[in-house]
Amino acid sequence: MIIERIKLNDYRNYASAEVFPGRGVNLFTGDNAQGKTNLLESVRLASVGRSARTTRWQELVRRGAKAASVSVRVRSDAGADEVTVRLGDAKTVLVNGYPVSRMGELMGVVKTVLFTPDELRIVKEGPGERRRFADIALCQLSRGYFYTLTRFNRVLAQRNRLLKGSPTDEELSVWDMQLAREGARITYTRRQFAARIAGFAAAVHADISGGEKLETGYEGAEGDSIAEIESGLLDALAQSRERDRRFSVTHVGPQRDDISIRSDGMDLRAYGSQGQQRSAALSLKLAEMELMKSEGGEYPILLLDDVLSELDEKRQSKLIERIKAYQTIITCTHLTDDVREKIGEITEFRVRAGTVERSDK
Ligand SMILES: Nc1ncnc2c1ncn2[C@@H]1O[C@H](COP(=O)(O)OP(=O)(O)O)[C@@H](O)[C@H]1O
Ligand SMILES: [Mg+2]
Repeated sequence: MIIERIKLNDYRNYASAEVFPGRGVNLFTGDNAQGKTNLLESVRLASVGRSARTTRWQELVRRGAKAASVSVRVRSDAGADEVTVRLGDAKTVLVNGYPVSRMGELMGVVKTVLFTPDELRIVKEGPGERRRFADIALCQLSRGYFYTLTRFNRVLAQRNRLLKGSPTDEELSVWDMQLAREGARITYTRRQFAARIAGFAAAVHADISGGEKLETGYEGAEGDSIAEIESGLLDALAQSRERDRRFSVTHVGPQRDDISIRSDGMDLRAYGSQGQQRSAALSLKLAEMELMKSEGGEYPILLLDDVLSELDEKRQSKLIERIKAYQTIITCTHLTDDVREKIGEITEFRVRAGTVERSDK
């Protein structure tokens, strides 16, 4: 899949901009605070419906403007598609010109994998970051998953709200059943995701680190089928009921799951050095590219924000080797001639105060 056009209106510091990326490596350079990350953020918004930097979409509207819009046109084996996100009184999404009634319809139209220096979080920070990693990839691969996750989150919020009062056993039972049903689907799907990405991550990691072993796994309710996980969750919810009442929160379910990340037996989440954590995060992201290709038939678009300069030379070279296989959008303040040579063919743009210009012709 490749992006053919990005069109912005009153988005962040862009009054209006239109960008036509090339098929391979696209490089956006510019000084700090010119709009490089804003551009990547807009693509991600059209891809997964939200910004990686903020949950308040109102911040995305250019200061002083009333509404913003982002349009991203892609070409895939399936043909051409365009997603438009309008941010005004509300957030509205159009796919090929038609407003969608449910946000899930946006999922998978523009498939992306995002890697930024912040992405270190998926190894270093709490389990929430790793669940989000799995969820965003899975939502892009399956709208069904997106809807299950939406239902699960609603049920969980309602059960937790109920726990703030003094619910009867009957009241809780209703929510337990729904929580176990939706929760089992999520745990099952994430467990499969973790199993599949483990193979890709191990291969990518061995390649970019020169033989280091990376092992990833899923930590959550056990079970070989959805039904098995569901009945296990129901039991666990019943057992945890008094504790849940006492703390007014639900202690069991996929909202507590995690993905383990180990290298040569060591838990990188807790004990990895900054460098090891960064390598593992990169491997996971590149593994996500491979997984999405194997599941969806095509590579997604890789978005790299300011990461080239953060990597040591060996990893940088390995990364550059890999990105040639897909459409990549890279931002950086400055690229050395040496790196430029390694990449080879580049479509280049210059970003300056909310404007983008081709700079390679
Ligand atoms: N809603 C907004 N309206 C206008 N300008 C904004 C808005 N949000 C962010 N900006 C501006 O965007 C710039 C940062 O852009 P960013 O893409 O993060 O820079 P960089 O090129 O360093 O990646 C800052 O100057 C900031 O003030
Ligand atoms: Mg930036």
